[in-house]
Amino acid sequence: STQHLVLGIETSCDETGIGLYDLTAHRLVSHRVFSQIDMHAAYGGVVPELASRDHVRRIVPLIRETVAAANAGLQDLKAIGYTTGPGLAGALLVGASVAEALALALGVPAIPVHHLEGHLLSPLLASEPPRFPFVALLVSGGHTQLMSVTGVGKYKLLGESVDDAAGEAFDKTGKLLGLGYPGGPAMAKLAAQGEAGKFKLPRPMLRSGDLQFSFSGLKTAVLTATQQPDYTTEQSADLAAEFQEAVTDVLCAKALSALKQTGLKRLVVAGGVGANKRLREQLVAAVTRRGGRVYFPELEFCSDNGAMIALATAMRLEAGVAEQTTDGAFAIRPR
Ligand code: KG4
Ligand code: ZN
Repeated sequence: STQHLVLGIETSCDETGIGLYDLTAHRLVSHRVFSQIDMHAAYGGVVPELASRDHVRRIVPLIRETVAAANAGLQDLKAIGYTTGPGLAGALLVGASVAEALALALGVPAIPVHHLEGHLLSPLLASEPPRFPFVALLVSGGHTQLMSVTGVGKYKLLGESVDDAAGEAFDKTGKLLGLGYPGGPAMAKLAAQGEAGKFKLPRPMLRSGDLQFSFSGLKTAVLTATQQPDYTTEQSADLAAEFQEAVTDVLCAKALSALKQTGLKRLVVAGGVGANKRLREQLVAAVTRRGGRVYFPELEFCSDNGAMIALATAMRLEAGVAEQTTDGAFAIRPR
């Protein structure tokens, strides 16, 4: 019997992600992620050339594995979705080329998907998914955005960071404090051993009156604190805790403002920083106090993965708003 499956391919950065979504059962049937983090950690960050080469090495075996895990065959694939950007150009080209070639061979559509749309829709993979409309807080390594989402493909940007993304600030500050890559999880771990408030860091743009963010000053403030003559490395946990609190305070305040401004009650949090425990706690407390509800992706879908790309592709197909590459020429959009 033939199944109706959508394959999702994600290769924008340092994770090769493959997902399979069942168009009939409306659910994710299998997914696999291969993370290159260990390889890049030795260099203190992602090395683009190494990332591309590793995607090349992993992608086909991972597709085979994901399809096999669903007891399916390639003939069951009815469309191939892939991340077209933003991300590293070489890395994106690997996923795009494999997706387009596979689609060509199978005679099915290839559907380019925006990476952030994948993140944005990832909470819909949860067992209790949010309904439209909602406000989305997108907090990843490359983006910090608030959006109003009224349906698939119906996204309105409410505000974003004018400089560093929240995840980028975590990564850069982690590096500054001598932590490995990626800095976010390491900072969160260190922060758990410290106490916020012992250091005083700014809450950038908290009272700017709009929904914009700025995080680069926070990293500089941490640098300044570490340069004080009486600073010792034993205090780094307190500094990390205060940093995390400052980021959390700003994200919470602006997310609340966005709900108020749009009159919406549901807040969806997506992207790697959405894995941060403190942020989750504070968002839930603040939003429920005002009669709203917060939705998070399952932890495994917070960071980059193919499942969210398969979902976004399937939802676009079902809504009739899937953009297809028809002439065989395809492009990536790194920025
Ligand atoms: O969404 P993502 O996996 O990749 C991008 O599209 O950027 O996000 C990665 C970002 C990194 O900056 C990483 O440090 C951050 O998410 N991150 C965290 C945590 N886990 C990952 N930041 C704070 N706390 C965490 N627990
Ligand atoms: Zn991402």
